[in-house]
Amino acid sequence: MTVAPERIAAAVAALRPAARKASANAHAPYSGFHVGAALRGPDGAVYAGCNVESASYGLTQCAERNALGAAISAGVKPGETSLLVIYLPGVEPLPPCGACRQWMVELLQPGALVVSCCDGEAMEAWQLSDLLPGPFLGP
Ligand code: THU
Repeated sequence: MTVAPERIAAAVAALRPAARKASANAHAPYSGFHVGAALRGPDGAVYAGCNVESASYGLTQCAERNALGAAISAGVKPGETSLLVIYLPGVEPLPPCGACRQWMVELLQPGALVVSCCDGEAMEAWQLSDLLPGPFLGP
């Protein structure tokens, strides 16, 4: 589904600063790639996260999952958040990984908007349902 450019720009204007600020705290000694993510809870409070890597590489947590975890830890309930913005360093907005898509499906609103932005003007956005069609939601 196409997302209106002005909606994408408004999302980035609102949450890129928090996502970028969080990226400065990334623990990324293996990739050197400092990612941030931010979302807004139902009362307007902003929750952010950065990627945290592990020497056991597969245990790395992405910025998106840490932002979602921060919101849930603060009392935001699944389905209460309609927007998540990802900030990646550089000039190319990249899509979220599969593990994060699964978390997003379980914790964001079904119709949520996910926006990826970077240091330049380029940005990309997806409706959550387009990021992970036919998700596993439990047995
Ligand atoms: N990473 C994220 O935090 N979010 C993404 O959307 C893409 C990848 C992290 C995981 C790892 O620490 C580093 O970026 C390189 O993949």
